[in-house]
Amino acid sequence: MELRLIIIATLLATISLLDLSSARKEGQKCIKNSDCDSGLHCETCLADGNLVPKCTRTQPISPISQVKTLPFNRYSWLTTHNSFARLGERSATGSLILAPTNQQDNITDQLNNGVRGLMLDMYDFQNDIWLCHSFGGNCYNYTSFQPAINVLKEIQAFLQANPSEIVTIIIEDYVTSPKGLTKVFDAAGLRKFWFPVSRMPKNGGNWPTVADMIQKNQRLVVFTSKRAKEASEGIAYEWNYVVENQYGNGGMIAGSCPNRAESSPMNTTTKSLVLVNYFRDLPDVTQACKDNSESLLRMVNTCSDAAGKRWPNFIAVDFYKRSDGGGAPRATDVANGHLVCGCGTIANCKANMSFGVCPEPEADVIPTAAPPNTNFGYSNRGPVQIQWLFGSLLVTLLLLLSL
Ligand SMILES: *[C@@H]1O[C@H](CO)[C@@H](O)[C@H](O)[C@H]1NC(C)=O
Ligand SMILES: *[C@@H]1O[C@H](CO)[C@@H](O)[C@H](O)[C@H]1NC(C)=O
Ligand SMILES: *[C@@H]1O[C@H](CO)[C@@H](O)[C@H](O)[C@H]1NC(C)=O
Ligand SMILES: *[C@@H]1O[C@H](CO)[C@@H](O)[C@H](O)[C@H]1NC(C)=O
Repeated sequence: MELRLIIIATLLATISLLDLSSARKEGQKCIKNSDCDSGLHCETCLADGNLVPKCTRTQPISPISQVKTLPFNRYSWLTTHNSFARLGERSATGSLILAPTNQQDNITDQLNNGVRGLMLDMYDFQNDIWLCHSFGGNCYNYTSFQPAINVLKEIQAFLQANPSEIVTIIIEDYVTSPKGLTKVFDAAGLRKFWFPVSRMPKNGGNWPTVADMIQKNQRLVVFTSKRAKEASEGIAYEWNYVVENQYGNGGMIAGSCPNRAESSPMNTTTKSLVLVNYFRDLPDVTQACKDNSESLLRMVNTCSDAAGKRWPNFIAVDFYKRSDGGGAPRATDVANGHLVCGCGTIANCKANMSFGVCPEPEADVIPTAAPPNTNFGYSNRGPVQIQWLFGSLLVTLLLLLSL
């Protein structure tokens, strides 16, 4: 019975054919990515009951597009958890990877989509530093992804090609080889972008402005989870500067935002940066679209309250492109709106405006339902119709399989 309903729903969706002559906006129906405006892609969110593919966000608005004169801690950056753990990746050792994966695209694509915080797990492995997952702190062929230098070189190329962009790397650090991290960052050509620990505020003060960081070319901020490396290698110990909520399932309980064990309490204002994690213990590509939508936005609100009315500077998620509409890019826009200009979204921030003087009513501020579907004509049939049929059949098949 239920099965039949689903099939009927899918067929109905098939019948409501689309006119694909022009680019679509967020929330509008689509068949393939190229149907959507730039910064969007086409997908369903079955976990939220949305069977019909819609254009959904893959990119936040650049928070520094309007205003570069604020301190670094007055911006929010879309951050990917286990940025390197790409779905379908094969280990560079040649082995199949048996570890979970957290993202859909590579670091270059993430950066090009506006991701500016990268969480990387680094290990000693095969006489080098590798991006890897751990069983008991060790890297194995079947949990290893690739040598860290490959990805660091992608970041280097991005910083080189984009002289106004700032990237933050947050390392889950298992490296014990002497100066292991220093060597790999140097070898990747990242030293020249290094933001020095000496310029990081120690007592809750403001960071330098992004304009200053850009002008001095100190555009790479790196944090390690190993305290001793701040003194020995000049790599900032993350929790000297950042408060961070619990990661994994423990950080997804609605209405609560506890700090993770290594971090000071969220309301510790002597740490100038706030990081919000919102992802499951076990990454789940099908649930991610739901997680990254309303509930992420609510957690961003909860955590900013817990952090003493401070909006998060980093919003870290799995499968950052998955949502049922605005997703993690929208949550980042909301945080940036509050941080940069005191409005509900960065879309309402303009150069030289007064803080908090926002247009009325403000767009995109309160979590709302997706905009109603536009009714499309039947003008564009032919090959498109066939693709759509295939899409529907696929959805039906997937549903049947999951029953
Ligand atoms: C791991 O992969 C390397 C190739 O990079 C290979 O030489 C080695 O034998 C593999 N180790 C195991 C335990 O399979
Ligand atoms: C990243 O992925 C894109 C495809 O989305 C590909 O064109 C590009 O070569 C990849 N870059 C690297 C460095 O792997
Ligand atoms: C910070 O939060 C804790 C609870 O985690 C609370 O007990 C404490 O009073 C708060 N401190 C300030 C200064 O708000
Ligand atoms: C903002 O103010 C600065 C300095 O007062 C000025 O140079 C700039 O042109 C202004 N920008 C806009 C968009 O009004």
